[in-house]
Amino acid sequence: MSSQEDGAAEPGPDTVGPSSSSSSTDNDATTGDIISVTIGATVPTGFEHTAAEEVKEKIGVDARISKDRGRIYFPITTDKLFQVHLLRSVDNLFVVVEEYDNYQFKESKEETLMELQELASKLPWTNALEVWKLNRTFKKKKGYRKGGNGTKGKPKSEAAGATVADTEQQELPQATSTVENQTEESVPEAESDTQDSVEAAPRAILIKFRVTCNRAGDKHSFSSNEAARDFGGAVQEFFQWKADMTKFDIEVLLNIHNVEVVIGIALTEESLHRRNISHFGPTTLRSTLCYGMLRLCKPQPSDIILDPMCGTGAIPLEGAIEFNSSFYIAGDNYDMAVNRTVNNICHIQKRRADKGSISGLPIDTVRWDLCSLPMRTSSVDIIITDMPFGKRMGSRKKNWDLYPSCLREMARVCRPGSGKAVLLTQDKKCFSKAISRMGGLWRKLHTVWVNVGGLHAGVYLLKRTEAVFGQTPEDVYESREVVSARGDEKADKEIS
Ligand SMILES: C[S@@+](CC[C@H](N)C(=O)[O-])C[C@H]1O[C@@H](n2cnc3c(N)ncnc32)[C@H](O)[C@@H]1O
Repeated sequence: MSSQEDGAAEPGPDTVGPSSSSSSTDNDATTGDIISVTIGATVPTGFEHTAAEEVKEKIGVDARISKDRGRIYFPITTDKLFQVHLLRSVDNLFVVVEEYDNYQFKESKEETLMELQELASKLPWTNALEVWKLNRTFKKKKGYRKGGNGTKGKPKSEAAGATVADTEQQELPQATSTVENQTEESVPEAESDTQDSVEAAPRAILIKFRVTCNRAGDKHSFSSNEAARDFGGAVQEFFQWKADMTKFDIEVLLNIHNVEVVIGIALTEESLHRRNISHFGPTTLRSTLCYGMLRLCKPQPSDIILDPMCGTGAIPLEGAIEFNSSFYIAGDNYDMAVNRTVNNICHIQKRRADKGSISGLPIDTVRWDLCSLPMRTSSVDIIITDMPFGKRMGSRKKNWDLYPSCLREMARVCRPGSGKAVLLTQDKKCFSKAISRMGGLWRKLHTVWVNVGGLHAGVYLLKRTEAVFGQTPEDVYESREVVSARGDEKADKEIS
């Protein structure tokens, strides 16, 4: 399937794209004309529909949800390119060069790799390269990526490249082009900078690039590394670009999901999910996932929104920035977590002040025990939190005590009839048991299944029932020690 009606490109050694010097098209973005392209975006798995909803709301177009989970595609015209960078539910953005719904891979590895090499010169690169050029004025400039595939020193292994999409979330494991035996040409410092090098055209400059292959599916005769290497070699030959894994100007993406193949050019250098957090904790949630959770509960002006187990404050901070007519209270029982939240808030405040903004964020921080909140009964509109999974944070055993206690205390402070809770946990068994005991106080409306760091987790949207707290069997006080002892007994039985 072709997304663009562009002719095949012609090689041009010293230019960004083959068409930019001699064969400039009528709809060239550099001439100020508007062109139509398809944008691809990676999003937190499970929140594809939320992302599509945001695209419709902010850009006014319908997004297509890919079979490859965690991706959406939508059409834009280049005059809307800056709006793409305002999306909050997307992790990474790219412009599609070409896409194939049903790519017929050849039987043998050699034939397939040969075909990938031939593909490089047949692709309609022109529009995508024009969008890449235009995009440099919008994207967040981060400098060059270190460590090859952006996974911070993670070794590039074939296995990582091969298990890709399902291992989730944080960064998709990637294989990058290994066009080896490059003689390190001496490139003057100024020319090695992305901005300078491209803007210096038409003076002869050397574009640096890399190919990143994301592959999922077990029926391929080739590895991600092999695909990236061979396709990358052909791209290099075709454009006469220089391969550089870390200091690249252009990142070409080769996304292969079973028989679906999408070739794109990256428009983001760093995943947008890192946007708010400067002080990370052991289980910091992606801002894009936080955004999805916040959208689920539809914050309204003047709502009081609580994250009673805030960790680094990722959820309330995203809320205070994006849904800023509500007020957020972020609490945790761990000193270090509260400190991190305060530091993250201060960091954002400073960033805003540096840009001349004087308005503060609608957020406050407290150290508390969620099971006994210093808050009035029925005073909160929304509770949104990421509960300890009992793996990296807390323990499964403790969750048998914690979950019922916290659901009960949340029900006390939440407004009957209108209050909502959006709770994320991977300890589904414990959560289901706890919620079934609280039927009089909470009603489960909807569950979104997500992937958090490779773990299958649920985001539960709950509605507070009309029941007045203190008048249902569920809220009969049970001392935490009694519940704890019962939990321990149960856990011990399970272990034995
Ligand atoms: C999964 S982490 C939250 C991570 C957070 N969403 C972030 O992005 O950093 C769960 C948090 O619950 C806190 N916690 C556990 N038991 C608690 C309790 N009884 N009261 C308050 N906080 C608690 C832990 O200290 C931890 O910071």
